[in-house]
Amino acid sequence: MQLPILKGQQITVRRLKRSDCESLYKHLKDQKVLRFLVSVPNPYRRKYSRPWVNWTHRAARADTDYHFGIEHNLEHEIIGGISLSTINHVHHKAELGYWLAHRHWRKGYMYEAVGLVCDFGFNQLQLHRIYAHVMNINRASAALLEKHGFIREGILRKSIRHNNRWHDMYVFAKLRGE
Ligand SMILES: CC(C)(COP(=O)(O)OP(=O)(O)OC[C@H]1O[C@@H](n2cnc3c(N)ncnc32)[C@H](O)[C@@H]1OP(=O)(O)O)[C@@H](O)C(=O)NCCC(=O)NCCS
Repeated sequence: MQLPILKGQQITVRRLKRSDCESLYKHLKDQKVLRFLVSVPNPYRRKYSRPWVNWTHRAARADTDYHFGIEHNLEHEIIGGISLSTINHVHHKAELGYWLAHRHWRKGYMYEAVGLVCDFGFNQLQLHRIYAHVMNINRASAALLEKHGFIREGILRKSIRHNNRWHDMYVFAKLRGE
């Protein structure tokens, strides 16, 4: 599908463009962001961005994963990413993922982005369940999901090998109408 533009007060959630590659690299090479992201290569290299943006376009066309950029409404630059991925059209569920450039943390931007994307998922995609997997050490992400009404359903014990350590993953989920 053609990804929609989701306009918030401070940020806009939109399709990634090839001209966003430099911003993606600038923000994603930061260890403060990377240390919580289990699916992004570390170290993150400039050459990864272009194939990644192309892949997000193919995945959206195939309706398997919807990856958006988060654009700052005043700076007009990509400052983060948010996704509904592994979309299951039979069981109407998808996995939520996100990251934000470090200098923009704690301004309410991701709270806004998660609200916009969940509304899109529940109302436009007719999802029944949106879930997220959060590393046990990631208190900010767990608190963000709880503030949005996600329920912590369980723990996947030592399910991720990250930075030479095993980590428990918390499973959070929100159902349509909750
Ligand atoms: C997690 C992350 C996306 C939060 O984004 P953010 O824009 O800073 O979050 P917001 O400012 O919208 O905060 C919304 C709520 O989340 C919680 N929260 C955010 N950062 C927090 C922190 N450092 N400590 C505790 N709670 C935090 C709070 O409940 C906050 O509400 P409040 O400000 O009213 O207390 C950001 O820290 C980030 O990109 N981290 C690195 C990547 C990452 O962890 N991705 C998620 C992987 S599962």
